[in-house]
Amino acid sequence: MSWYVDFFKRDYARLYSFEPERSAREAAFARNALKLEDGARVLDLCCGRGRHLRGLGAVGVDLDRESLHGLPAACAEMRALPLRNGAVDAVVSMFSSFGYLENDEEDRRVLREIARVLRPRGRLLLDLLNREYALAGFAPSAQRVEEDGTLIVEQRRFDALGSRLSVSFVIVSPSGERTDSPGHSLQLYTLTELARMLEESGLRLDRVFGGYDASDYALESPRMVAVARVT
Ligand SMILES: C[S@@+](CC[C@H](N)C(=O)[O-])C[C@H]1O[C@@H](n2cnc3c(N)ncnc32)[C@H](O)[C@@H]1O
Repeated sequence: MSWYVDFFKRDYARLYSFEPERSAREAAFARNALKLEDGARVLDLCCGRGRHLRGLGAVGVDLDRESLHGLPAACAEMRALPLRNGAVDAVVSMFSSFGYLENDEEDRRVLREIARVLRPRGRLLLDLLNREYALAGFAPSAQRVEEDGTLIVEQRRFDALGSRLSVSFVIVSPSGERTDSPGHSLQLYTLTELARMLEESGLRLDRVFGGYDASDYALESPRMVAVARVT
């Protein structure tokens, strides 16, 4: 089974938590970046626990059925969306939800699927970790202590040939109980590669931000937030 099925079901929620204010700010940024009008039909692709759904006024899709209870969302693969052609005005993919798949041809399938469900001139916002930033400050390990005293140790590996970042975790609870998580594995695209992939998938890059503060993208930006439209 693919790593992402297990990881998001089992370990993800223990490793990442988000204040509602942060999620609301991110959703507001995405709405502005996409210039969404009231009533726009928006899909939050890989919506997880749906922390952006309300702020975006979106419906969601995610592979992890358990995270979707009570949400206006469907359990589906990002490569095969349960939507008809041209069904939505915008697609949003937040917090590095693109690049998990087995190879770049599978990632291209996702972009083609996004282009299919978008209406003509519909827009996509893709929020990715900035590869240049991740590599400039690359540290093979890091640790942090959560508010409840949980210790989280990250071990990072970067495959330079494949441009793939893999991160595994050791989680030690306040009572000393240790959990080893194989973690996640993410393809990191340069902006040049991403622009080309978008173009090949029927989408054109419009603008690139460097973070949720709406700054312009630069090498040292933490994020690479691409806004594209159907050509
Ligand atoms: C990093 S989380 C981001 C969730 C949410 N966008 C957020 O910002 O909190 C990535 C999500 O992608 C989902 N996912 C992973 N692979 C998927 C796939 N092949 N198809 C659909 N969803 C997938 C996971 O279940 C997980 O909820």
